[in-house]
Amino acid sequence: MSAPLLAFDRVAIHLGGREILSPTSFEVGRGEFVCIVGASGCGKTTLLRAASGLVTPTGGTVRRDGVPVTQPSREVAFVFQDYGRALLPWRTVQGNISLALEAAGVPKAERAARIADVLSKVGLAAHAHKFPAQLSGGMQQRVQIARCLAQAPQLLLMDEPFGALDALTRHGLQDEVARLVQEQGLTVLFVTHDLEEAIYLGDRVIALQADPGPGRPSLARMLDVPLSRPRDQLSTKEQPAFLQLRRELFGFIEQGHA
Ligand SMILES: Nc1ncnc2c1ncn2[C@@H]1O[C@H](COP(=O)(O)OP(=O)(O)O)[C@@H](O)[C@H]1O
Ligand SMILES: [Mg+2]
Repeated sequence: MSAPLLAFDRVAIHLGGREILSPTSFEVGRGEFVCIVGASGCGKTTLLRAASGLVTPTGGTVRRDGVPVTQPSREVAFVFQDYGRALLPWRTVQGNISLALEAAGVPKAERAARIADVLSKVGLAAHAHKFPAQLSGGMQQRVQIARCLAQAPQLLLMDEPFGALDALTRHGLQDEVARLVQEQGLTVLFVTHDLEEAIYLGDRVIALQADPGPGRPSLARMLDVPLSRPRDQLSTKEQPAFLQLRRELFGFIEQGHA
């Protein structure tokens, strides 16, 4: 059997003299969509940064494809919540996407076709020459996602990517990302504090708890999501399995039951 794409093996992280993540182990298989939920400040962003090699654990090992992660790699793409700061305001949409290709050393002659391809995938083909400030928040976030797709990453990390968007835009983007992930066979680790979003998108949901106490792991729950795909904003969320998962996570996160 091949190694999982991403493996956290008893990963602990201390920052500023404080234990942010206590020994946490889990795996993400190829093509899997895993969501991480937990209250603000429980270490979700820190966990993603460790997955990308931006933070070095103080204990345990993060492995990607069986190899310890020691630094950021182009094989891993990161989508930030703050699309406004992730995009360069003086570059057009296609200029922003070109950045990822330039960084990857893609020859100039190939770039235009690759840019057109990812823009059509996120429904922005008609907006290639606009600047970020001319686009809505949802469209700017789609540009950031397109830039990550242009990188053709092995692993996509997303940190509350829809947290700053209104509910309608958020639902539209959830469905778009779910479709892209299925079509492209992407592997995703997705952080959110929105329990319904985690269940709606994930094959699995991992719940972290803040300050678990001495000797106790940050990882408090790992739930499989047995909901068929493609999912639907109305009918999926009415299914008994969805409601049962929501109840289980809600009791844990909102009421602090470990
Ligand atoms: N570089 C750092 N130095 C010290 N403390 C940090 C640093 N980064 C994050 N923290 C602390 O770690 C905790 C978890 O942060 P974070 O991973 O951003 O949580 P979340 O994303 O779940 O809201 C917070 O209490 C935060 O203040
Ligand atoms: Mg965070």
